[in-house]
Parts: sequence; C-alpha cells; structure tokens
Amino acid sequence: MRIGILTGGGDCPGLNAVIRAVVRKGLGEHGDEVVGFRDGWRGLLEDDAVPLDLASVRGILPRGGTVLGTSRTNPYGVDGGPERVLETLQRHRIDALVPIGGEDTLGVAARLGEAGVRVVGVPKTIDNDLNGTDYTFGFDTAVGVAMEAVDRLHTTGDSHHRTLVVEVMGRHAGWIALHAGMAGGATVILVPENPFDVDAVVEHCRHRFASGFSPIVVVSEGAAPKQGALTTSTGQLDAFGHVRLGGIGAALAALIEERTGREARAVVLGHLQRGGTPSQFDRVLATRFGLAAVDAVHDGQSGVMVALRGTDIVRVPLAEATAQLKLVPVERYAEAEVFFG
Ligand code: F6P
Repeated sequence: MRIGILTGGGDCPGLNAVIRAVVRKGLGEHGDEVVGFRDGWRGLLEDDAVPLDLASVRGILPRGGTVLGTSRTNPYGVDGGPERVLETLQRHRIDALVPIGGEDTLGVAARLGEAGVRVVGVPKTIDNDLNGTDYTFGFDTAVGVAMEAVDRLHTTGDSHHRTLVVEVMGRHAGWIALHAGMAGGATVILVPENPFDVDAVVEHCRHRFASGFSPIVVVSEGAAPKQGALTTSTGQLDAFGHVRLGGIGAALAALIEERTGREARAVVLGHLQRGGTPSQFDRVLATRFGLAAVDAVHDGQSGVMVALRGTDIVRVPLAEATAQLKLVPVERYAEAEVFFG
C-alpha cells in the first residue's frame, strides 16, 4: 500500500515518534511505501512531498518538533482547496492518509473522509483537549515543563515575597494549568472553563502571604474573569479562525500587585511548553498510536482516529472526536480547589 502522512497544527513533542512508527511498521511488516507531505495540509495543496524510508526516520524518536514541518493551513479555507488535495493524493497514488493533528487538522481529515478519502487520524496536541481519547501525546511533556517552572518559581517568589503568575497554554481547555498547578502546588489555578472571581484570587494570594509563603498563580491563556474583562487577545486570527491569545498573566499580575500591595511578576511559558524532547510517556503513546494507525489502515478502516482508553489503544469515529472539545470537568477543577490559598 501507499500511505500518506502529514503533521498539522501546532507542533508537539512526539510527532516524530508517530512518523517513525508508521514507517517502521508499514515498511517493515507490510512492505508499504510511505510518502510524507510537508507542513500539514499545505503539502497536499501544493504537492510538496517527500518519500519516507527507514533511513529517513533513524534517530528521530527523541527529537522534538516534526521532521515533516507543520502549518495551520486549512484547505477548506482556500478556493478549490479540497480538489487540489484530492489531485495530489491521486498523483501520488495514495491508498490511505494518516493525518496527525488536533481538532483543526482532524476536522479537515473527517471532511475528506466523508468525501471518500481513506483517512486514519492520530490525535496530537499539548492541550489534551481532543475528544474520544483519554490523553493526547505532547501533553505530558508540556505539563512536565510547566511543573518544573512552577517548582522553580516557588523558591524565587518566596525569597522576594512577591506573587508570581505563570501563564500556560490552553485556549479553550485548562488541562495544562490544572495538571501543572496541581503537580506544582499552585496557590490558585485559573482555567477557561471556569470564569474566575477576581476578589477570590486576591484573597487566596493574601492568605498565602499570611502563611509566610508567596503565591503562585497558574493561569491558562484563555482564562477570563467573571466580572469585566482583562484584555487577552492580540486580535489576530489563524486560518481556522482562532484568535491568538496572550496577556492574561501580565494583566492579572498588575491587578494582584495593586490589590495586595505586594510586588507581582508574570512569566509566560509560551512555546517552551511545545519545544524539545518528548517525555517517556509521550514517546510510548506516540509510538503506539503510529503502530495502531498502520493496523487500522491494513484492516481497511477509514474515518477513524486511534485513541487511548485506559491503557488500550482503540479506534473512534473521527466525526465524534472532532465534534466538540474535551474540557476540564467541574469535578476535576473541584479537586484542585481544595489546595487553593
Ligand atoms: O493548539 C496548541 C497550542 O499550543 C495552543 O495551546 C495555543 O493557543 C496555540 O497552539 C498557539 O499557537 P501558535 O504557536 O500558532 O501561536
């Protein structure tokens, strides 16, 4: 068989582990040929392809980013885009396509699946907000980076008796903030799912100062207050219509400084959370996803995404996985709240 593969959306540690697994299993066990398309859907729109053999995937398992490159190109946002994608697939005689991505990339995959392309999706995002899978790879690495930052900020914050606000990624879902904040012992965790009460945040910070320690506030980039607004959008949109966020950390730090009368600083972790080598958990999960995608292709599946349920890799309909985001449930946030203040 000829299998096409691409990585779309924000990069994420573990993408190379998926590519390697698809190539190793496809070539090694089935005698498949694997074609990589560069920079996500752009590679299919513009016919930018590269054959992937065993030599091309040697040594990439621990490497962050993606050897295929990525972009947020949306073929459905381009005139004649879907037709160009189909032509490229035909030109390369692709029997099945394995797109690796989040809600946007896999949303395109679902539509192409409905249009007759054989697609088996692989879920990736550091945000862990894809429905249908317990975890996406990349999340564990991102949480590890954010947790280490929180650990380090505790000691400098305590030394200077100041509040430190840590802004982490998470546009609509607060999984990174929730896990990094819980693992790092944050004073308050603020997530997009739960608009926060400014007075309560300030009170938690005061309480922490009163205990002789300094507050750490972990805030998702998409979190917002219940009352009024703290400007957090840059106003720029990507090809899928998402607003580029930023600024909640600094706005919150200024507000906390003013209300507590103690100095506050903001740290934006940004793309540090996405870069670098994947954790062991993400390498293993990404590898298992890649192997399972090849199995699904050879079982004649289409319109499915491989997913983690418990410790098993299963297949779920792409339409179900992309219909809505997996948000932090109220009861998970309540667990974290026990430690606020
Ligand atoms: O979707 C993953 C993600 O890292 C989000 O958490 C974040 O909002 C976004 O990508 C940032 O995208 P970019 O790197 O394109 O600014």
